[in-house]
Amino acid sequence: MKAIVVTDPAAGTAGMKLVDRPESKAAINDVVVEVYAAGFVNTELEWPSTWADRAFRERTPSILGHELAGVVTALGYGTTGLSIGQRVVGLSDWHRDGTLAEYVAMEARNLAPLPGDVDFTVGASLPISGLTAWQGLFQHGRLQAGQSVLAHGAAGAVGSIVTQLAREAGAYVIGTGRAADRQRALDFGAHEFIELGSDRLEDVGGVDLVFDVIGGDIQKRSARLVRAGGTLVTVVGPTDVRPADGRTIDFVVEADRVQLSEIVQRVRDGRLRTNIGKVSSLDDAIATFRSTERRTGKTVIRVRP
Ligand SMILES: NC(=O)c1ccc[n+]([C@@H]2O[C@H](COP(=O)([O-])OP(=O)(O)OC[C@H]3O[C@@H](n4cnc5c(N)ncnc54)[C@H](OP(=O)(O)O)[C@@H]3O)[C@@H](O)[C@H]2O)c1
Repeated sequence: MKAIVVTDPAAGTAGMKLVDRPESKAAINDVVVEVYAAGFVNTELEWPSTWADRAFRERTPSILGHELAGVVTALGYGTTGLSIGQRVVGLSDWHRDGTLAEYVAMEARNLAPLPGDVDFTVGASLPISGLTAWQGLFQHGRLQAGQSVLAHGAAGAVGSIVTQLAREAGAYVIGTGRAADRQRALDFGAHEFIELGSDRLEDVGGVDLVFDVIGGDIQKRSARLVRAGGTLVTVVGPTDVRPADGRTIDFVVEADRVQLSEIVQRVRDGRLRTNIGKVSSLDDAIATFRSTERRTGKTVIRVRP
């Protein structure tokens, strides 16, 4: 099968190669999925799991990509809940070979059914951004109707879903980003927009929840805006930054079939709009990843035409 692999942590996107690899085999509780479309997060080359297995042993050459939409082609021993020929969407294990390939073996529990009226490209754009937004807002941030959310990077892949889900849940949403992102963030449902380059973040006043996708100084300044009892949720890694009288949660998104099905259902209902940036073929994927052109939204690789 064709797959995009990396072998050298220092090489960046220059180290990506489209190669032929043996087809993935289903282990116990796995399914093999024929990948139709796969999402890609460009920070993946910085994640330790791209380079090592759970015992910190080098696992290169590693196949990149961890979200997909496709069709089940084989079941491993003991696998239940999915069947051959079923359309699925899901988040694959960070430490195993990924989804930028024609086939991937992954645990069945990491997949949800993908209804026939949801396109594979749309499906592949949802698992990481959708589950990150869902878990950050509701599981870790314990968002309640009537609260306020500062949604950083509100035109980006995660931030646009944070903005929409928070708004749907009855929160007041302040989106942030670059000047060019203002209208997109408002279109995704932000009540107001702060341009981080020119507006004063401090003018926001207090918020109940900060959803941080940026880190650094923006994260520090945002923590000061968290009201008593509120939460700073961050997805850019562990941090010592704490609100004066609130919690900080940093987390890595986890696969969850029920939550992913809720997200897919919202897309079908028209309650949630996915945010797809660039779409390209597997043959053109590496050129797309290397491009320095500014992209907003999720990059999706259409593995099968
Ligand atoms: N922990 C987890 O489980 C998890 C899950 C998903 C994502 N993440 C992380 O979350 C981050 C965002 O992911 P994503 O897929 O949403 O990326 P994305 O689509 O690039 O969205 C980020 C948005 O924030 C904007 N932004 C970044 N820095 C900014 C700044 N200083 N001022 C104004 N706007 C700024 C970006 O604009 P520009 O493109 O112009 O910079 C972009 O619109 C990444 O670091 C990713 O690794 C973590």
